[in-house]
Amino acid sequence: MTLPATFDTERLRFQQPSADDAPAVFANWATDSEVTRYLVWRPHQEVGTVTAYLASCQTGWDKGREFTWLLRERSSRQPIGAVAARPNGHRIEVGYVLGRRWWGQGYMTEALRRLIDECFRHESIHRVWAYCDCENPASARVMEKSGMIKEGKLHTWAVHPNVSSIPRDCWCYAITRDQYAQTPRPPSL
Ligand SMILES: CC(C)(COP(=O)(O)OP(=O)(O)OC[C@H]1O[C@@H](n2cnc3c(N)ncnc32)[C@H](O)[C@@H]1OP(=O)(O)O)[C@@H](O)C(=O)NCCC(=O)NCCS
Repeated sequence: MTLPATFDTERLRFQQPSADDAPAVFANWATDSEVTRYLVWRPHQEVGTVTAYLASCQTGWDKGREFTWLLRERSSRQPIGAVAARPNGHRIEVGYVLGRRWWGQGYMTEALRRLIDECFRHESIHRVWAYCDCENPASARVMEKSGMIKEGKLHTWAVHPNVSSIPRDCWCYAITRDQYAQTPRPPSL
C-alpha cells in the first residue's frame, strides 16, 4: 500500500520531508526535552542528525514500511511537527510529535483525524492504532478526540529513555473500520 505524499487540512499541510527541512525541525522541536519526554528518542544535539534522519525517511516511503510527513502550518509554511504511519497487514500504527509553541491549539487532533481518514481510504486497512505513555495525558486526549478507543494497558511496553531505561506501561488506543464507519464526524478536506 501507499499513502499520498501531500495532503491538507484546514490549517495544515502534510508533506513528505526533505533534508532541507532539517534546520526548521531542529529549531522547532527536535532539541526540546519537554517535547521528547515520552518519545523513544532523545533530543538531538546536532542539526546533522536531523538531516540524516529526514533523508532516511525516504527509505520508509520507498519500501512502504513507514510513511512520515512533516506538518506544515499553512499560514506560516513552516514545519511545526511530524506524523508517521507504519502499515502491518490490515493494521496501521500511527505516531506524532508537535513543537511546543503550537501545543494546545487543536493542531494534532486536526492532523490525526485527517490521517485516520486517509488510512481508511485503503480497503485493506481495518485498524488504526497507537500507544502513548500512561503519563502522557495530552497524547491520550488527542487520540480520544480523534475517535480512537482506549483498549487497555500495554504493560512494560516501551522504553522512553528520557524518563527511564525501564520499559513503561502505555495505553493502547485504536479505531477499527467498523467503529470508524459508525462515528459521525465532519468530513475532512
Ligand atoms: C501530544 C501532543 C501531540 C498534543 O498536540 P496538541 O496539538 O497540543 O493537541 P490538541 O490541542 O489537539 O489536544 C490536546 C488535548 O490534551 C489536553 N491536555 C493537554 N495537556 C494535558 C494534561 N497534562 N492532562 C490532561 N489533558 C491535557 C488538552 O486540554 C486538549 O484537550 P481538550 O481539547 O479536551 O482541552 C503534543 O503535546 C506533543 O507533541 N507532545 C510531545 C510529543 C508526544 O508526546 N507525542 C505523542 C507520543 S505518544
